Amino acid sequence: MNPVFFLLITALCVVEQATAQSDCSSVFLTLAPCLTYITATSATPTSVCCTELSVVLQSNPQCLCLLVGGAESLGVTINKTQAISLPAVCNLNAPPQSLCNV
Ligand SMILES: *[C@@H]1O[C@H](CO)[C@@H](O)[C@H](O)[C@H]1NC(C)=O
Repeated sequence: MNPVFFLLITALCVVEQATAQSDCSSVFLTLAPCLTYITATSATPTSVCCTELSVVLQSNPQCLCLLVGGAESLGVTINKTQAISLPAVCNLNAPPQSLCNV
């Protein structure tokens, strides 16, 4: 393969990964109202949380998967049981588990 072409493709992939990452960190900020539930500080999510979650499920569902699997890296101790049940508790049809297997 032409080495210049190869470099170009590699560069494009790096840019795409960086973009996906930053998309998700803004998504995490949007879901801040859900943190009390995800960290099990609160037994029920707030209605603001559910509203934000429904937006995220439509725009960036894969970020929810990252949230369940990688919130520790953000310095947050989450309760995975509660995090995974969040869409169901909000009456939304998209368990993060199934998204993560895509
Ligand atoms: C996580 O939440 C579930 C359901 O609320 C609870 O039964 C479980 O003890 C919690 N786990 C931890 C590690 O806090």
